[in-house]
Amino acid sequence: MDAVRVYAPGSVSNLGPGFDCLGAAVAGKGDVVTARRVGAPGVRVASVSDPRIPLAADRNTAAVAAAAVLRGLPAVGVELAIEKGLPLAGGLGGSAASAVAGALAVSALFGLEAPREALLAAALEAEALVAGRHADNIAPCLWGGLVLVLGLDPPLIVPRPVHPGLRLVLLTPSYSVETARARAVLPAQVSRADAIAQAAGLAGVLAGLEQGDLDLVRASMSDRIAEPARLALYPGYVEARAAGWDAGAGVAVSGAGPTVMAIVRAGDEGAVASAMQQAYARAGFETTLHAAAIDPLGARVVPA
Ligand code: HSE
Repeated sequence: MDAVRVYAPGSVSNLGPGFDCLGAAVAGKGDVVTARRVGAPGVRVASVSDPRIPLAADRNTAAVAAAAVLRGLPAVGVELAIEKGLPLAGGLGGSAASAVAGALAVSALFGLEAPREALLAAALEAEALVAGRHADNIAPCLWGGLVLVLGLDPPLIVPRPVHPGLRLVLLTPSYSVETARARAVLPAQVSRADAIAQAAGLAGVLAGLEQGDLDLVRASMSDRIAEPARLALYPGYVEARAAGWDAGAGVAVSGAGPTVMAIVRAGDEGAVASAMQQAYARAGFETTLHAAAIDPLGARVVPA
């Protein structure tokens, strides 16, 4: 095989109280990385569809993750072509998707059959470089579906079910938020009351998603750690969250934002999306609406 093409889905993370430990893969939006064997040893980036993303192999998440998979094979050479389907600094796991796609593409190209845990460790090196050392986008991107990240060293990933009667609505307002900037404002410590509320909320969200109990999801979906510290980075969000809530949804920022995720009953997608879009419009922001079923498969090799 001379070339391998991999699709890696975008993802939502945190889902309210699951800060840095809960994420879900999202269907219909993702990055594609094609890896080609070349004679000269090492990993190079031949092209990236978004000119804002560096070609330098030590600053590109697909290349950093690919190099981590190939560590120990210094003689092999590979070139990567990266097609970004996910927005930069959008809160949809774009850096993680490119990293996962780069890692899986070189593993498949050289017949390494690296287990998902090894690919996660490689992608985590890349994610740590640009966004911080957390796997709540990488893990759903690799496993598909909803996953809980119980540990990183070693990786311990727990897939969790989502009731088929629930849907996601994703809205990206017309501004970007760099993850590094959003992480710089996080509190170093949280109070006992906030830690207890966060733990209870996470358990409630997981139970509600499994049972299809949207009232339980809504009662559980607030984040006591990241969102309060980041609110100033998300103009229009407080109003959009209130509008989504009034329309019957559970609402949270997706990852470091600014994409906002709403969990809704099947059939309510249009009404919730429209209420939240109008709230952003009143605050002066256009929004992009994403079709958002959960991707059950995760990153995969696709035809070249
Ligand atoms: N859990 C992370 C955060 C996701 O909220 O910072 C962003 O990569």
